[in-house]
Formats: sequence, C-alpha cells, structure tokens
Amino acid sequence: MKKLSNLKVRFVGAGNMATSLIGGLINRGFLPSQITASDPGGHQRQVVTEKFGVKTFGDNNEHFGIPDVVVLAVKPQIMKQVALDVAESVIETGALVISIAAGIKIEHLEQWISKDIPIVRSMPNTPALIGEGATGLFANANVNREQKHLTEAILDSVGISHWVDEEYKIDVVTALSGSGPAYFFLFMEYLQKTAVELGLSEEVAAKLTEQTALGSAILAQRSQDDITVLRQKVTSPNGTTEAALKSFQANDFAKIINQAVKAANHRSQELSEDFC
Ligand SMILES: NC(=O)c1ccc[n+]([C@@H]2O[C@H](COP(=O)([O-])OP(=O)(O)OC[C@H]3O[C@@H](n4cnc5c(N)ncnc54)[C@H](OP(=O)(O)O)[C@@H]3O)[C@@H](O)[C@H]2O)c1
Repeated sequence: MKKLSNLKVRFVGAGNMATSLIGGLINRGFLPSQITASDPGGHQRQVVTEKFGVKTFGDNNEHFGIPDVVVLAVKPQIMKQVALDVAESVIETGALVISIAAGIKIEHLEQWISKDIPIVRSMPNTPALIGEGATGLFANANVNREQKHLTEAILDSVGISHWVDEEYKIDVVTALSGSGPAYFFLFMEYLQKTAVELGLSEEVAAKLTEQTALGSAILAQRSQDDITVLRQKVTSPNGTTEAALKSFQANDFAKIINQAVKAANHRSQELSEDFC
C-alpha cells in the first residue's frame, strides 16, 4: 500500500466540509504540499491557504497534477456540472473519487465521469467539523482494498467511518447519522426549555443539557453495557426517571422516532432522484 506520506489529495470545493477534512488530514500528519483544493470563491480559497498553507485554485482543472484521491465536496445541486468539469482530469489520472455530496448516487457519478473509475459515495455529518463525525461509505466495484484504506484514512481524520455493502443503506445512514445531530439538538432544545420553565436560568439549563448529552454519549461509547442496560441502570423503580419514561411511553415516543427516521430515509431516496 502506498504510504500516506506519499499520497496526493485534490479537493474540488473548499467549503465547510472540505475545510474540516483538510484540517483533519493536516492534524493526522499530512503535509500541506500533499493537498490542493479548487473553489471559485476567493474567500474560501484564502481561508484554506491561510489556515493550512494548502495551495488553492479558482479553476477545478488548474494544477490538477496526478492526485491519488479526488474529493468532490460541492453541493449536490452543482455536482453534475462539477463532475463533468473534472471528468477528463480524473480519467487521465485514474484517481479514486470520493463524493461527500448528499443524495448523489454512484450510477450518476459513473455516468458523468466514467463507469471505469473507482468511486466512493460517503455520507458524513456536521460533527466532522470538530473532528467527531460519523460517516457511512459505499464503494463501486472498481475500488480496491488499498483505496478503501485510503478512504478510511481520509474520513477517519474527522471522526469514524463504516462501510455499507449496498448503496440503499447510505439513505439509512443519512436518516440516522446524517440528519441525527438535528434530532439530538431538538431533544436538547426541548429539555432545556422545560428546565427553564421549571425555574432554571437559560445559562444553567444550557450547560447542564449539553454536559448531560455529552456525558451520556461518552458513557454509551465506553461502557461494556448496551444502551438498554444503561437506561435501566438510571431507572430506579418508582423514581423520577421512571416517571419521565412512563410519560414518554404514554405518548408513544418509540413510534414518534420510528416515523421520523423513516421520513428522513424516504426523503433521502427522493433526493437521489432530484439531482440527476
Ligand atoms: N455540512 C455538512 O455537515 C455535510 C454533511 C454531510 C454531507 N455534506 C455534503 O458535503 C458537500 C459540501 O457541503 P458543505 O457544507 O461543505 O458546503 P459549502 O460550505 O457550501 O461548500 C461547497 C463549496 O463548493 C464551492 N463551489 C461552488 N461551485 C463550485 C464549483 N463549480 N467548483 C468547485 N467548487 C465550487 C462553494 O463556493 P461558493 O460558496 O462560492 O458557491 C463552496 O465553497 C455537500 O454536497 C453536502 O451535501 C455536508
């Protein structure tokens, strides 16, 4: 396998996600000279160059070089235009393409670039911006073992990643971890508001809510117990937690979550049809 220190990575689009990934790679030991990025936005290019010392270009094909990996990090709405724009350069280099765009299917990328190139479709989430992302990955048949390792090296630099064996599961990942941060934020928002209604200040309610969410997630990650057991351990018979959980059950909380995640999954499938 090619050493990470010899890899060249090209980012097409240098917005929020690309900036996080570039930051993650630099933290992992990549040199700025191993990375280039293109973006029509002067401000974005300036941010990436000043923050990481990475060379940036206004044209997607300018100084394309011979990258091992090309990360397509633009909005889904303009992916077709961008994929067509870089197709020739990608085909010439034989680089692995990693798309981070929501809703863009492998078959469309193959149609716009080439069905013979290795392509990975990924679904990261916003905590990647602070190095705590969760990413789902799916590869087409052209991606070899080494390229899978490369993909993991890139996405794991901003959190964790997992492969799925069928592309439809990326829509499930989208409904779980892609949209997931918003579910937790909503839950935290309601907790916080109720605590304020019951008498806590905004500041104290916010801090306790955040730390409770953080502590619970870390406990779930580190504990040998699964989350059902962890929940049961907090729930003494006839206690305060049980009172709250009974109220959740009375309002069919399980069904509310089940329907919401299925709605996100369905919308993700629909969006895949919109962008081609
Ligand atoms: N943010 C997330 O948490 C998240 C999570 C999962 C997946 N994603 C996916 O990641 C992708 C990027 O999202 P983002 O949040 O990083 O968006 P973003 O901040 O808007 O970044 C996209 C960048 O692409 C640039 N761009 C526009 N036209 C271009 C072109 N023709 N060639 C090259 N670059 C071009 C944009 O410049 P201008 O601003 O000047 O147009 C912008 O700097 C999206 O497809 C999104 O679905 C994001």
